[in-house]
Amino acid sequence: MSTDSNGSWRIFRGDGMPRPVTMPPAPPWRRFSPPDGSAAPLPYLIAREHADVVNAALHLRRPLLVTGPAGTGKSSLARAVAHELSLGELLRWPVNSRSSVQDALYQYDAIGRLRETTLSRDRGDREPSIGNFIRLGALGTALAPTGTPRALLVDEMDKGDVDLPNDLLTVFEEGVFEIPELARLPEEMATVDVLTADHHGSVAVEQGRVQCVEFPVVVITSNGERDFPPAFLRRCIRLDLPVPDEDRLRAIVSAHLGDGALLEVDDLLQAFLRRRAPGELATDQLLNAVFLRAGGVDLDAEGLLDAVLHQLTGTL
Ligand SMILES: Nc1ncnc2c1ncn2[C@@H]1O[C@H](COP(=O)(O)OP(=O)(O)O)[C@@H](O)[C@H]1O
Ligand SMILES: [Mg+2]
Repeated sequence: MSTDSNGSWRIFRGDGMPRPVTMPPAPPWRRFSPPDGSAAPLPYLIAREHADVVNAALHLRRPLLVTGPAGTGKSSLARAVAHELSLGELLRWPVNSRSSVQDALYQYDAIGRLRETTLSRDRGDREPSIGNFIRLGALGTALAPTGTPRALLVDEMDKGDVDLPNDLLTVFEEGVFEIPELARLPEEMATVDVLTADHHGSVAVEQGRVQCVEFPVVVITSNGERDFPPAFLRRCIRLDLPVPDEDRLRAIVSAHLGDGALLEVDDLLQAFLRRRAPGELATDQLLNAVFLRAGGVDLDAEGLLDAVLHQLTGTL
């Protein structure tokens, strides 16, 4: 980003004059990594006492239920654990009001299969395997038998249906699920390769039963919009992430943008803390403000600071 004072950070000027532009470098947390995972991991800072709660969940093979206000690093924690423990690509299940455990386990494309089967019959080819039309979801892939456990993020579970925790509880207790479409196949077709949630991934399923070998590393996040049933809570390890204090915010800023970024941010930090006091403000909003300031943007001008450090709750 250009740092001169004549406003050349303004990519869009609103003057209607078409011109070629070179996009300035993106903030580290908005760089979209190649699928091979070669991009540098984002830093994650966690207090020892909170990391130890994660460790308890790992030892006990229990899901970790992470609560706390928006932007306190709940979802990022799953990514940080998967990365540090080399558990492969994090499996993500973003929960919404339409989410069902069934869909997160697997989906069967019956129509696609019918179409492909008809086409290959017409061509005189062999029928495609039923496994090409069964794809395990994030939850199903996490339960597939693999050497090392996978990491699964069940994100914002409080956005889901009331029955979701109980349905999930059953799967987590037993670590197994059935794919009836495969279970009823004849003996000689007992082993079928199905697709997984991973890019180009597949796994062999025996007699329609998917049973985990090691319980996956499960991180469930909640913004507290819904209470969960006691039976569910009992099976989880609870971690409540607090909003970071000033020292921790400084540490997070320098971890993301380097020590140099801390030189002229005192006023931004104070503005952030002042605005966070009455309502919600996420840590990444501070990161955005520091990033813009470091790129030469005059953040005090004309409501720009308001646009970046806006409240997350209440009506807009
Ligand atoms: N403890 C932390 N260490 C490093 N970065 C953090 C931390 N907490 C929050 N962040 C930053 O804030 C962003 C939002 O965090 P996120 O995990 O999405 O919050 P939540 O899921 O709690 O809403 C992250 O992408 C990261 O840039
Ligand atoms: Mg989140």
